Amino acid sequence: MAEGEGEWSYSKNSRRQEIVIRETKPIIENATKEVYTALLPKTMIIVDLGCSAGPNTLLFMSNVIGVIADQCKSSEGDPVELQFFLNDLPGNDFNELFRAIQKFETSGTMDQPGHVPPLHYISGLPGSYYNRLFPRQSVHLFHSSYCLHWRSQVPEGLDTSKEAYLNKDNVYITNTTTPFAVKQFQEQFHKDFSLFLELRHEELVYGGKMVLVFLGRKNEDVYSGELNQLYGLVARSLQSLVLKGLVEKEKLESFNLPVYGPSVAEVKEVVMQSKIFSMDEIKLFEANWDPFDDSEGVDVLDSACSSMNVAKCIRSVLKSLIICHFGETILDPLFVEFASLVAKQLEEQQTKLAVIAMSLKKI
Ligand SMILES: C[S@@+](CC[C@H](N)C(=O)[O-])C[C@H]1O[C@@H](n2cnc3c(N)ncnc32)[C@H](O)[C@@H]1O
Repeated sequence: MAEGEGEWSYSKNSRRQEIVIRETKPIIENATKEVYTALLPKTMIIVDLGCSAGPNTLLFMSNVIGVIADQCKSSEGDPVELQFFLNDLPGNDFNELFRAIQKFETSGTMDQPGHVPPLHYISGLPGSYYNRLFPRQSVHLFHSSYCLHWRSQVPEGLDTSKEAYLNKDNVYITNTTTPFAVKQFQEQFHKDFSLFLELRHEELVYGGKMVLVFLGRKNEDVYSGELNQLYGLVARSLQSLVLKGLVEKEKLESFNLPVYGPSVAEVKEVVMQSKIFSMDEIKLFEANWDPFDDSEGVDVLDSACSSMNVAKCIRSVLKSLIICHFGETILDPLFVEFASLVAKQLEEQQTKLAVIAMSLKKI
């Protein structure tokens, strides 16, 4: 994610992710309440996986603190204390995150009438959630929002040339992606998500829960997904830079995004096969591409403005991957091109992302 607090930073361009946390608040609240009332821990360990450096992890923590304060209103004895761990990859801007936490703690956000916030402690935890992060049976609640569509790596074979790169000038699955390359993306999802479930199962206490929210696909057709459309435009923007001589063709052909948007059925299949979690609920909802467009109609009111908003959001998410592979100089021309393609797409129709939200219980 783009670091800092500037115009192009993740923290200034994460309104879509914020709305998703607000949308999934009832799921977070139910899971928190159920774990707390069933287990009555003296210290409740809560983890936000893929917290980033923006304001959204603070929103998650304040939701949890509000629920626990409410639960403890009338209880006697020692009040529960909360230990939050905020996890992300080591490259995450943890300094920015802890500056934001300091402001949050002194802003009085927690002071709601009738609520005495429980004592809480907040620690950062750098590391990949595709590894073990906690001792066995130590965590009560895991949360992860807008992360698990990211794979642990680019699917095998896609970024190495035997004779020709497998996914040509695509960066994700599009109509010209071969069935073999599609299978590589699907297998990477299956492998990563199964591993993630196994690791968290080890770390959760019995009765512990996970609330997982990530981008997915509305239809079963793997070529017709909402992410396919969005990243299809990223690929077309890169292709136009190749034509302008700003990007080498081979550089584009060796670039693929470590991402996969599964359908609800695919997610359910992995959870069922794992036999280690029961599914309390799963739902899919849709969100406009433009994070500032809350309208529900089929028309986009201002496609030029919306396309800029989409471009800023996607730039803040892809910045480090793009710089790492192509260098920094292509960022501006790439996202000018991308914004123009998004504007054309939005002039034709309102375009949405599919978000999958679920609550799982360790069995
Ligand atoms: C789009 S951001 C979402 C951040 C935040 N949860 C929110 O709702 O705004 C995705 C985050 O997932 C993190 N991430 C991706 N893969 C990860 C991994 N394997 N382990 C830990 N964090 C990861 C990224 O670094 C990034 O900060």
